[in-house]
Amino acid sequence: MRVCVVGGAGYVGLVTGVGLALLGHEVMCVDVNSTRVEELENGNSPIQEEGLEPVLAELLQRGKIRFTTSIETGIEQAEIVFIAVATPSLPDGGTDSSHAVTVARDLARLIHRYTVVAVKSTMPVETLDQLDSVLKERLIPGKQFDLVSNPEFLREGRGLRDFFRPDRIVVGSDSEPAFSVMRQVYQPLIDGSAELPEAFRTDTPIPYLETTPSTAQMIKYASNAFLATRISFINEIAGLCQRLNADVGAVVEGLGLDPRIGKAYLQPGIGFGGPCLEKDLTALVRLAQDNNYDPVLLDSVLQRNHLQLIEVQNKLINGMGPSPVGKTVAVLGLAFKEGTNDVRNSLALRLMKDLADSGATVHGHDPLAIPEAEEQFQDATYFENVYEALAGVDAAVVLNSVAEYRDLDLERVAATMKDGLLVDVRGVLNSGDVLSHGLRYDSIG
Ligand code: NAD
Ligand code: UGA
Repeated sequence: MRVCVVGGAGYVGLVTGVGLALLGHEVMCVDVNSTRVEELENGNSPIQEEGLEPVLAELLQRGKIRFTTSIETGIEQAEIVFIAVATPSLPDGGTDSSHAVTVARDLARLIHRYTVVAVKSTMPVETLDQLDSVLKERLIPGKQFDLVSNPEFLREGRGLRDFFRPDRIVVGSDSEPAFSVMRQVYQPLIDGSAELPEAFRTDTPIPYLETTPSTAQMIKYASNAFLATRISFINEIAGLCQRLNADVGAVVEGLGLDPRIGKAYLQPGIGFGGPCLEKDLTALVRLAQDNNYDPVLLDSVLQRNHLQLIEVQNKLINGMGPSPVGKTVAVLGLAFKEGTNDVRNSLALRLMKDLADSGATVHGHDPLAIPEAEEQFQDATYFENVYEALAGVDAAVVLNSVAEYRDLDLERVAATMKDGLLVDVRGVLNSGDVLSHGLRYDSIG
């Protein structure tokens, strides 16, 4: 099929475009970010995604995917248009749908044959209705267009694997012709006929759910809210473990053995960061309030996340003495999680800002995300080498579990740090080893 992905140079749009092209479709990715479009045309991906660049190079060479800044060119031949633009939070917690509305206005002007418009962006159903109204101003529903909700569940860093081996595909629509087009789009994935690289193949059947648009959107919001709830839950349990002298790692092990619970998303840490979990949970809380429903549970999930950052900050500040003024802290792990260079809503950057505001000098290190962090936060010194980041510091905090931190040479660390407080938020170091090198150790739980 001939597919257009609008927002095709972003995380979701690029993975969707590349994924659909590898399934055999002809893909045009449209994006207003001309720098990214130019990079992608040359086979360079502006985002770090496992396995993406080699696949992209091959697809470009075969002419299966193209990138453009022109929506006119992008949708000229398209039978289906995916919308994958960002839907950030508004200051009141609601959803900023302005990018999606701009796209809908363009589509209303340009669509000239029956086209399915499939929304990948996460947005409340009322925003979907708003897009529908914009399209209806010029086009006839069912005849010239149908709007479909097709929420995305990929995780950054392993987006392509999630595209090809999804836990489910969800399609929300009120139109049988639109359902039929969507089935054609995903058919090679559902029937296993797609010829995919080994890493992306699966023998497990992929559940394919057809439902209404509002239910599809709610499945997306509920999924992210549930993941966030598990993280806040385990962070609260970790705080209790520390106060009651229990080992949270062993508690997760014991909890996870119950198949009704499982171990996933029970890793304590600084809280959930990144572009989506907090944004989508805040949007859900806002939706509840707008509908006169009190979201007590979801509210407290957000509150625990906020307190978790303060807990890490207090461990550092209290561990360094009466005042952080004149002290230096190294923050290891700047992206919102390991395996990505994305620093959007990274709690590491919030922590750095809070530390700098309270008078501390801040060092930063990350294996992938230093340029992105530097762009967002200039009040820190960044180091490519982790031991240089640790040189002369009073305390260091390890925020993620990349091998570089897990395998730190503690002898070198002890020799280079001024005063050795290590706050091991992810529990990647062996506390006994750390202490035996004359360093101080603290963790979550
Ligand atoms: P992103 O910012 O990485 O990508 C959005 C892209 O849209 C950008 O490249 C931007 O230049 C482009 N864009 C904006 N306005 C445009 C326009 N008028 N025409 C063409 N291009 C335009 O955002 P993202 O992280 O990919 O998220 C997109 C949506 O997907 C959001 O609703 C998000 O909640 C949802 N989502 C994201 C993830 C994720 O892991 N990032 C996962 C699931 C769902
Ligand atoms: C998340 C969801 O996992 C995806 O299914 C969803 O599609 C996506 O949001 C979205 O809607 O954008 P992602 O943001 O890539 O994906 O990141 P996750 O891997 O879920 O991690 C989110 C945050 O939670 C990170 O800060 C991570 O460090 C933290 N986390 C995760 C924990 O603290 N503990 C855990 O056990 C798991």
